[in-house]
Amino acid sequence: MSRIDALAKVTGEAAYAADHHLDGMAYAHLVTSTIGAGRITSMNLDAAVKAGGVVEIFTPDDPLPFAATLPGIGGFFADPRHPLSDHDIRHHGQIVAMVVAETLEQARDAAALVEVTYETRPPNADFDRAKEHAVPPPPVLDLPLGQVIEKPAGVDIEAALAASEVRVEETYDVPPRHHMMMEPHAAVAFWEDGRLTIHSGTQGPAAHAIELATVLGVPPSDVHVVSPYVGGAFGGKAFTWTPIMLVAAAARALGRPVKLVTAREQLFTVTGHRAATSQTIGLGAHRDGRLYAIKHHTVSESLVEDPGYRATQKYYATPNAHIRLSITPGMNLPPATIMRAPGDEAGSFALESAMDELADRLGMDPVELRLKNYLTSTLIGGVPYAGKHLEECYRVGAERFGWARRSPRPGAVTDGDDLVGMGMATAILDAGRAATTARVAFRLDGTVTVGCATSDPGTGMATAMAMTAARALGLPADRITPLLGDSRLPVAGSEDVYGAIGSAAAATVSGGVLAAAQEAIDTLIRHAATAEGSPLRGAGDIRYDQGRLLGGGTSVDFGELLALTGAGEIGADGTSTAADDGHAHASYAAHFCEVRVDRWTREPRLSRFTTVVDAGTILNATTARNQITGGVLFGLAAALCEAGRVEPATGRIANANLADYLLPVNADAVDIDVHFLDRPDTGLGGTGARGIGELGTVGAAAAFANAVYNATGIRVRALPITVDKLLT
Ligand code: MOS
Repeated sequence: MSRIDALAKVTGEAAYAADHHLDGMAYAHLVTSTIGAGRITSMNLDAAVKAGGVVEIFTPDDPLPFAATLPGIGGFFADPRHPLSDHDIRHHGQIVAMVVAETLEQARDAAALVEVTYETRPPNADFDRAKEHAVPPPPVLDLPLGQVIEKPAGVDIEAALAASEVRVEETYDVPPRHHMMMEPHAAVAFWEDGRLTIHSGTQGPAAHAIELATVLGVPPSDVHVVSPYVGGAFGGKAFTWTPIMLVAAAARALGRPVKLVTAREQLFTVTGHRAATSQTIGLGAHRDGRLYAIKHHTVSESLVEDPGYRATQKYYATPNAHIRLSITPGMNLPPATIMRAPGDEAGSFALESAMDELADRLGMDPVELRLKNYLTSTLIGGVPYAGKHLEECYRVGAERFGWARRSPRPGAVTDGDDLVGMGMATAILDAGRAATTARVAFRLDGTVTVGCATSDPGTGMATAMAMTAARALGLPADRITPLLGDSRLPVAGSEDVYGAIGSAAAATVSGGVLAAAQEAIDTLIRHAATAEGSPLRGAGDIRYDQGRLLGGGTSVDFGELLALTGAGEIGADGTSTAADDGHAHASYAAHFCEVRVDRWTREPRLSRFTTVVDAGTILNATTARNQITGGVLFGLAAALCEAGRVEPATGRIANANLADYLLPVNADAVDIDVHFLDRPDTGLGGTGARGIGELGTVGAAAAFANAVYNATGIRVRALPITVDKLLT
C-alpha cells in the first residue's frame, strides 16, 4: 500500500512545524559562537537593538528562565546544559544569543549585528590526537554501553590471538556524521493560560512534551506537542535540543507566538551528531575458518557510539572475545547523540571489513566464512536466538546477486575502463517490542480512527498503523484514519514514551493497535447489546464481522448503529505488553554490492546492490522496501561521501553546509534489489514484525569497502572511501 500521507506530502498540503503561521507571530534567529573554546567577555547589542523590528535579544547576560536541565540518559545523548546559561564556550557554533524580531529577515539581520568578544583558549577538538589519551567511560545508569565484555571472564585476548593460526588486526576509522534530515529543527510555540502548544517535528511527541515541561518548569499535561509530519529525523529528533527549548521559553517571555527555523549550517552544532570512532579489530581463526578469538577495541568521542557492544557481540561464535570502549571526554565538540543504527553502523563496518580481510587471508569465500561462524545464541550469556533465518538470507542473496561470478582475486574483473568488484556484508540489528497503548474508535461516518503518540518521520508508520487496524477489524484501509504525532494521544510506559526510535516503533505500535482493536470491538458489542435504539439491544450472541454487528437474527453496520443510538463514537484503549519469550531477537540482512571504479579517475560508483532481509512479518512491503533502500543509501553515504570535517586548531566544522558536506543524490543511486523473507517472528508476539528502519545501513558501508577492495586491491579502512584513497 502506498503511504497514506503521500499525496499530502507531494502536494505541499502536509503542514510541517515551520508551515504554521499564527497571528502576532514573531521570528527568532540564533547567534552562534565563532570560537571553539573560551568565554564570552562582553556582548555589544547596540547595533542589533537599533536594527529594524527587533523585539528582544536573549543572551547569557539576559537569559531566559529554565527550571531544569535535561539529563538525557545519564548526561549522554542530549545536551545536558541550560541553553544560554553561562558565558563559557564549550564548542564552536554554540548558541550565544537568540534574536526575536517582527520578521525573519529582521531577526537574521539583527543577529548578524550582535558583537561578541571572547577570551579564547585552544580547543581540544582533534580526535586523532585525543584518542591517544582515551579513558574508560563512566558507568551510566543501567545501560550496558561502555562495559567491558570478556569471554571467558579474564580472557587474555592477546594470547588467544597469538595462538590463532590465521590472524587479522587492523584499525578502522569512521568520521563524525550529521543527520541532515530534510526538515531542520524548527518550531512554532505559543502559550495560552500558562499552557504551551508547540508545533515541532519530533520522533517522540510524548517524550518531547515531558522534556519541554521539565526544562520549562510546568506539568507535562500543560505542554501540547503537535507533530503530525516530520521531515526526517534519523535519531536527531529523538531528544529535545536547545533551539526548541529557547523558542518555547521566548514565546512565554514575550507573550506571543514565536517561530524558529534552525539554519542549515547551525544544525551541525546546535543539535547532536554521530560521534567519531576508531576501532581496532583483531580476528584469530583456525585454518578451516573457525574463529578462535575476536578483539574489538573502540575509541569514541562519546559513550553513545559503542560499536563493540552494539555489533560484535551478536555476529559470530567464538570461544574468546574481548570488547571494550574508551572515550575522549571533554572535547570541544558539539554534543554526540544517537544517529541511525548508533554503534551498529560503525561496528559492522569495522567487523565486516575485518571478516573480508580474514576471508582473503584464508583463501575462503566470504559467505562461507560467515556460515562457518554462525551464531545461534548470544555470545555472552548464551541466550538462544529465535526466528533467525540469516543463513537463508546469505543463500538467497548470493543466488539473486550472482555471487558465484565473483573472482576472489582483486582487480581481476574489468569492463572497459571500469574495475568491477563485488563485496558482501552482514547486517544485524537487535529487535524488540515494547509495551504500548493505542486507541481505536468507531465513528458515526463509518470510519475508524487509530491513534498512538508515536511518530512517522518518513518511515511509513501512519500507513502501517492503518493497515494493521484494517486487518484486525476486517475493513479496507481507506476507512481507517491514523492519528499520531500528538502528545495527547495514548502512550505507554517510559520505554516507548520515546516514540519512533530503535527501529522498534512498527513492532511496538502494531502490537498496541491489535490490542486496541480487540478492546474497541468488545466495547462496540457491549454498546450494541445495551444502548437504547440499538436493533441488537438485548441480544446475547452479538458478534463483530468486517464492520458489521450480527446477532438476534439481524445485523447492522457500526456507522448505522452509532446513528441509531446517538453515539458520536465508540472506542477503547488497548495495551500490549512487551515481548518476553526468553529468546534473543534481531533483524538480519545479507548485503551484496557491486561497484565500478574508473581505472583512470579512481571514482567509485555503486552499480548493483542486492539485500535479502529477515525482519519478521513485513507489515507493508512498499514502505518497508523504502526503508531498506533508504538505509542502504545511508550506508552508501557513509561509505563514499559523508564526513564532518573538524578544523583541529579552531574546532570549527569546515564543511557545515550541504554544498561541502556530501550526501548522495538520486544520480548516485541505483535501483536497490530488496527481497524480504517475510517470516513472522512468532516469539516476539504482536504482529510478528521486527525492525527495519536502521537495518539497511548496518553493514552497507562494509559491503561497499569490500567491493572496492575486490575491484582495486586497495583496502580502505578510514571512511569515506574518497578518490584520493584509491590513487596509487
Ligand atoms: Mo534511531 S538513531 O534509534 O532514532
